[in-house]
Amino acid sequence: MFLVLTMKLGIIGCGAIGTDVALAADKMSEIEQIFLHDINQISAQKLRQQLKKGKVATVAEFIQKVDVVFEGASQEAVEQYAETILSAGIDFIVMSVGSLFDDQLRNKLIKSAREHRCKMYIPSGAVCGIDGLMSASVDVIDEVTLVTTKPPASLGKKYTKRTVVFDGVARQAVTEFPKNINVAASVSLAGIGFDRTNVKIVADPVATRINHKILAHGKFGRLRAEVENMPNPKNPKSSYMASLSAIATLKRIVSPIQIGV
Ligand SMILES: NC(=O)c1ccc[n+]([C@@H]2O[C@H](COP(=O)([O-])OP(=O)(O)OC[C@H]3O[C@@H](n4cnc5c(N)ncnc54)[C@H](O)[C@@H]3O)[C@@H](O)[C@H]2O)c1
Repeated sequence: MFLVLTMKLGIIGCGAIGTDVALAADKMSEIEQIFLHDINQISAQKLRQQLKKGKVATVAEFIQKVDVVFEGASQEAVEQYAETILSAGIDFIVMSVGSLFDDQLRNKLIKSAREHRCKMYIPSGAVCGIDGLMSASVDVIDEVTLVTTKPPASLGKKYTKRTVVFDGVARQAVTEFPKNINVAASVSLAGIGFDRTNVKIVADPVATRINHKILAHGKFGRLRAEVENMPNPKNPKSSYMASLSAIATLKRIVSPIQIGV
């Protein structure tokens, strides 16, 4: 239990999602200062110029000053910084959730967050239905399937008819279709894990947007959640919904009211 008056935010990764989060945080009265870090100095500087509360700094420079760090960079950045952040007792919002497929890394970070009494937040990202899956997972879930339908071009392929290009479990999907990694990871973590979550990837020439469907059944009943994503204008490879979920997570952290699980 904690009551936030104002807090300082660190951002690692000043690309599409990091920029959307920083611009939103700049307008939040609860956020007092925003530290920006990117391996590309120009990206960090450009973003700083758009903010009232922004300051460019390395992670080592801002770690003693911030209350929460947002990662919107890469899996490598999670590997590089997550342990340092959590072991300093600082809450960490992870966007490159595919990094958590690594059981050793994930368990190490959970242990560190527990020992240092801080939290690792995983926004639902580009999918919808994570709340229902989390509630359902309190009791028995028999089956979870993530169906991702993409225009063939986004898979770098040409198909003239609807084709199932992958049908297997999440852990296997990640090695064959690494671009689906974040969504498969979020769904697996919320539900029944990487080895029991089914993933189907469909190339559909009729599709113009990336569509994610979660289908689950269990003791709770049956769940079907679907989203059709618009690309982020700053990076068409990322769904705009991913930025919105990151901002919603930050709002959840600073807000006195928590809606949903
Ligand atoms: N959870 C989800 O559903 C979801 C959805 C979309 C994207 N993502 C992930 O979020 C991350 C950010 O996505 P984006 O669209 O903003 O990407 P982007 O390419 O627009 O921006 C990433 C930024 O991070 C910087 N960066 C990369 N590695 C870094 C490092 N080690 N240290 C510091 N900076 C680093 C890059 O220079 C770039 O400016 C990616 O890993 C992406 O896979 C997750």
